[in-house]
Amino acid sequence: PTTTAAGGALSGKRVLITAGGTREPLDPVRFLGNKSSGKQGVALAEAALAAGADVTVIHAHMDVAAPAGAKLQSVETALELRAATLSAAGTFDVVIMAAAVADFRPASISSGKIKKRDDTADPVINLVRNPDILVEVVAHRAAQNLKQLIVGFAAETGDDQDDALSYAEAKLQRKGCDLLVVNEVGPGDSGTERVFGQDSNQVQILALDGATPVQASGSKRTVADTVVRVIAARLSAS
Ligand code: CTP
Ligand code: CA
Repeated sequence: PTTTAAGGALSGKRVLITAGGTREPLDPVRFLGNKSSGKQGVALAEAALAAGADVTVIHAHMDVAAPAGAKLQSVETALELRAATLSAAGTFDVVIMAAAVADFRPASISSGKIKKRDDTADPVINLVRNPDILVEVVAHRAAQNLKQLIVGFAAETGDDQDDALSYAEAKLQRKGCDLLVVNEVGPGDSGTERVFGQDSNQVQILALDGATPVQASGSKRTVADTVVRVIAARLSAS
C-alpha cells in the first residue's frame, strides 16, 4: 500500500518510549519526585503512532493521560523503570528515553511512616545514586549486537563556565546515544517555567555522529513530530 510521507514514516517499526517522572519512596506515604509532566513523552508516542509505528510506553508518574493506541506499562521508581526498560529493549528498533529519572534515591525506605518526634534531632535523608538507564540501554545494544536507534533527552542550563549546548554536547558523548534532544532551560530567576508542565518547547537535536543539529520549536507535539522525522530519516538511511 502507498503511504503518505508523514503517515508511514515509521510504519513497521517498533518504538519504545519512557515517559513521566520517577518517584522514589521514603516511607509508605512519601516520595521524592520531580516536575516532569509526561507531556513530551506522550506527544512523542502520539507522533510515532501517527507515523505508523508500533509504540510501547513505559511510564512513571504523569500529570496527563497515557496515549491511546500505545501499549502501556506503568512503573514507579528508577529501579523499576530500569528493569522494565532493559527487559523490553531487545525487540525495539528505536528507544526514546524521555522519562525524568531520579538521579538519587533514599538509601533506605522506612517500613513505617516517618514520625516527627520532639526528643530526637530532625531527620536527615541519605541518598544513593541510581543507575544511568540510558547508558545501560546503549551498553545493552552493544552486548546484544542490536541494530537500534537510541535517543536521549536533556534539559540543560548554562552557567559562567559554559553554555547549555556545550554541556549538552558533553552529555551526548558521555551517554553514547545516537541523538540527544536538548531543552535549554532558563536560569531559573525569571519566575516562569520554560519546560516543565508547559505545552510548548524549544529544542536542538544533537547527533553523536556530528550531523548538524536540527532545531525545533512550538508545541510539544510539533517538537515530537520533528524528532520522529529525524529518527525516520536515520532509519531509512541505515
Ligand atoms: N537518564 C537515565 N537514567 C538516569 C538519569 C538520566 O536514563 N539515572 C536519561 C534520561 O532519561 C535522559 C538522559 O538520561 O534521556 C539525560 O538525563 P539528564 O538528567 O539530563 O542526565 P544526567 O546524566 O542525569 O545528568 P545531570 O547530572 O545533568 O542530571
Ligand atoms: Ca539527571
